Amino acid sequence: MRTPLIAGNWKMNGSAALVEEFGHAFAEARLPASLDVAVLPPFPYLDAARRGFEGTPLRLGAQTLNPLHSGAHTGEVSGRMLREFGVEYALTGHSERRQLYREGDEAVLDRLLAALSVGITPILCVGETLEERDTGRTMDVVLRQVGYVMARLEPDQRSRVVIAYEPVWAIGTGRTATPQQAQEVMAGIRQYQAGFDRELAAGLRLLYGGSMNAGNAAELLAQPDIDGGLVGGASLKVDDFLAICQSAG
Ligand code: G3P
Repeated sequence: MRTPLIAGNWKMNGSAALVEEFGHAFAEARLPASLDVAVLPPFPYLDAARRGFEGTPLRLGAQTLNPLHSGAHTGEVSGRMLREFGVEYALTGHSERRQLYREGDEAVLDRLLAALSVGITPILCVGETLEERDTGRTMDVVLRQVGYVMARLEPDQRSRVVIAYEPVWAIGTGRTATPQQAQEVMAGIRQYQAGFDRELAAGLRLLYGGSMNAGNAAELLAQPDIDGGLVGGASLKVDDFLAICQSAG
């Protein structure tokens, strides 16, 4: 019922050559029939990726966007501009943006609304730090991050949001959440949403992110409430990313 989505977040990595390599590999790839795949390269590679991914199943995503359409905001990029380059997905609330660029819940909401307003599917990232997990606050933190945004959306907007659960302690550390840990939190997110709208909760796509790789993806993706992955490091190696996509069938 829910189409799996595997999204590769290149962060501030990659190159024009890597874009080309992905285009070639995915043009030939055999992927599960029902699967959405997106690559989120740094902005300068979007145009090359749009051309290089033509005729492949790869869709384009952005790692962030400015909440405004245009204006005097040196260095920023708007959703409208991203749309012009064929971007279909955008991350909002990634923990690196929350921590390094001090984007709080309000800033996350503004960016998510901007994405929706131009027809880009927002991927709302949520997740607890190690200290929050160790002090038993995982669900409080995650549901606050989810609830802040979802409570402020109209029902038709809510149904267009994808949520990625990325425990901060698992990002880039090689320490993946166990399938049970991930499933528990993600079932909690779905249940929380079901408290407002059962149908929406049943259709809500939930991705796991945090040291997902070719070796652990199948077991994570087999969990009933995990509908895909948001992949960082392993999305920079075409064979690994392909293997993750193939295990989403
Ligand atoms: O957005 C993806 C991410 O933060 C996970 O990164 O390197 O742990 O797969 P990584």
